Amino acid sequence: MQKTIFSGVQPSGNLHLGNYLGAIRNWVAMQKKYSSIFCIVDLHAITAPQDPKQLKEKIIEVAKIYLAAGIDPEESTIFVQSQIPQHAELMWILNTITKTGELYKMTQFKDKVGASKTKENLLSVDAGLLNYPILMAADILLYDVHLVPVGEDQLQHIELARTLARRFNDRFGETFTVPEPYVLKEGMRIMGLDNPAKKMSKSAPSKYNRIELLDSPDEIREKIRKAVTDSGSAIEYSDEQPAIKNLLNIFSLITNTHPKKIASNFEDQGYKKFKEDLAGSIIEFLSPFQKKYHETSDAEVLMQLKNGKEKLLSIAEKKIKEVKKKVGFI
Ligand code: AMP
Ligand code: TRP
Repeated sequence: MQKTIFSGVQPSGNLHLGNYLGAIRNWVAMQKKYSSIFCIVDLHAITAPQDPKQLKEKIIEVAKIYLAAGIDPEESTIFVQSQIPQHAELMWILNTITKTGELYKMTQFKDKVGASKTKENLLSVDAGLLNYPILMAADILLYDVHLVPVGEDQLQHIELARTLARRFNDRFGETFTVPEPYVLKEGMRIMGLDNPAKKMSKSAPSKYNRIELLDSPDEIREKIRKAVTDSGSAIEYSDEQPAIKNLLNIFSLITNTHPKKIASNFEDQGYKKFKEDLAGSIIEFLSPFQKKYHETSDAEVLMQLKNGKEKLLSIAEKKIKEVKKKVGFI
């Protein structure tokens, strides 16, 4: 039997090259080999305030991005998290076997709460943000997923899903498959263009942090032109030059060329030429994807999401029934 993979992206902010290179591209490559489920995690998205009208548009946009990036609905299932109520139901049960300490230590939580983790500050954080990783565990455990392809930033969350699967199995008897993370070294962490110490992120306040997947050629050129560089002017692939290293990583991933080879090609050419060529390569790389995105209709997307929901609902219902029985519900 084929192993199952599951992953998801939040329909908040604008998807960027980090999402594509760290996650979605790997899903496309894996879908032939695995039984694949890709989710639009709208329940996760509302852990930050969302404008309802915009959220609705974003859900469709992310589904369209999946399809345009090459997720094939014949091979894979795409669906919207909130349309399968068993995610929230399983989350509640998993809540009761999770320690709050396991949640407070999460790096993503700490990052989102910000630097000022005073007691007062923590008391004013929404419970949803703290409990976010339990919902993610529910997403994964509901479908007996074997592998979870994500970027490196999600490893801690998958570790919690593993812990909760084992804990539930120990307490109530064998119920859940213990999932494994699947992180490709390449692309696992694309850093911000405005700050190579932090990952490229949908929620970074400045648009100069990221290349968005739907950016126009002019926007891409402008953002790469403004990307921070290191002191000096050498183009070298080294940890001493984190900004250039990040740009070389991006260049390498989209052209399938070793970053050191690219560095040597541009050795004496200066940042300007390097950046012009990088911007050109990104534009070329995104162009077929963007064309497909604009050709995909909302009706097509809605149909695929409906199919996905119908395919998964019976699996989710069966699993929740088993869980409830084990817990002792009648
Ligand atoms: P998010 O943007 O948090 O919804 O993340 C969706 C997926 O993209 C997850 O698998 C992340 O690990 C991955 N991802 C997000 N940002 C980056 C990044 N800067 N580099 C690599 N992967 C990323
Ligand atoms: N938390 C993930 C992120 O922000 C998204 C996500 C939600 C997810 N549920 C998941 C990823 C289940 C993999 C599996 O990137």
